[in-house]
Amino acid sequence: MTTQRNTVTAALGMEPLDKYMFKYKGFNFLQGSVTPEYIDSLEDFKIRDSDIFLVTFPKSGTIWTQNILSLIYHEGHRNGTENTVLIDRVPWLEYNVCNRDYGNRPSPRLFSTHLPYYLVPKGLKNGAGKIIYVARNPKDVLVSYYHFFNITVKLEKIEDFDIFMEKFLAGKVLGNFWLDHIEGWSAKENNFNILFLLYEEMKKDLRSNVVKICNFLGVTLTEEELDDIVDKASFDKMSVDPRSNYSSMHPEFLDFSKGRFLRKGTVGDWKNTMTVAQNERFDSIFKERMEKLPFKFCWDINEF
Ligand code: A3P
Repeated sequence: MTTQRNTVTAALGMEPLDKYMFKYKGFNFLQGSVTPEYIDSLEDFKIRDSDIFLVTFPKSGTIWTQNILSLIYHEGHRNGTENTVLIDRVPWLEYNVCNRDYGNRPSPRLFSTHLPYYLVPKGLKNGAGKIIYVARNPKDVLVSYYHFFNITVKLEKIEDFDIFMEKFLAGKVLGNFWLDHIEGWSAKENNFNILFLLYEEMKKDLRSNVVKICNFLGVTLTEEELDDIVDKASFDKMSVDPRSNYSSMHPEFLDFSKGRFLRKGTVGDWKNTMTVAQNERFDSIFKERMEKLPFKFCWDINEF
């Protein structure tokens, strides 16, 4: 049965990674949630100048920035008169889980994606639309991801952190290898209309980052509206708002008996999980390429 499935997927250019993920065009996707045909079709997905794409490597603050974008654009979200969940306000480009007709959405359309630069629609590569790329220090990403794997029904359960870390270092997770993702996007900076943000900077000073986002998007808000967004995008407020924390996600996707999506939301939590030896191994693979990135990451909340 498995051999038969592998033969079919190979014919489609899909390479099965495990029971839950497959690789297509060099990038890992969630099994059963997207097809190669749909991924192929994204190249010609028509981009409007008013489109806004949030690009992240998983566990880098996607839901946080989805919430900020939704609060910026939807007054009904700010004042609580509209009860729409984030996954529908800022849906995934590559995983159309709510089965929406993206082509008919009103402008400005907000999208999220984990895609690498080379798989996004060509309109974006030609400078149409706007992109916000949020990056987070990869050790906190790793630890956050480890917990995420264990609450996600459609991903392998890996209890041993050491085993998960090796999977992460081998790029056998959604998003592939962290360094490839961020290097790819930052090297192509000039091809896109793009703003880079750091999770740690958002944590340090959310208000100025919301202002930065508004300036980039050409949105003018009052001081009160900005205060409201900063308040509603705080970890504490999002943790108890089911529209903003994925808690209403179908149990087929997330098992909240195993943990929360908004887990700790801090900087430097990796120190509570990684051993000295794991940290050294991580650095031996990451350090040299990290130093060449045009971003200065913060590794500990005490450095603020
Ligand atoms: P932790 O697991 O370290 O707590 P993503 O949405 O890309 O999957 O990222 C999830 C991570 O962002 C989780 O990290 C989550 O807690 C954190 N996060 C979400 N909302 C946040 C907020 N308002 N402030 C700080 N961190 C937040």
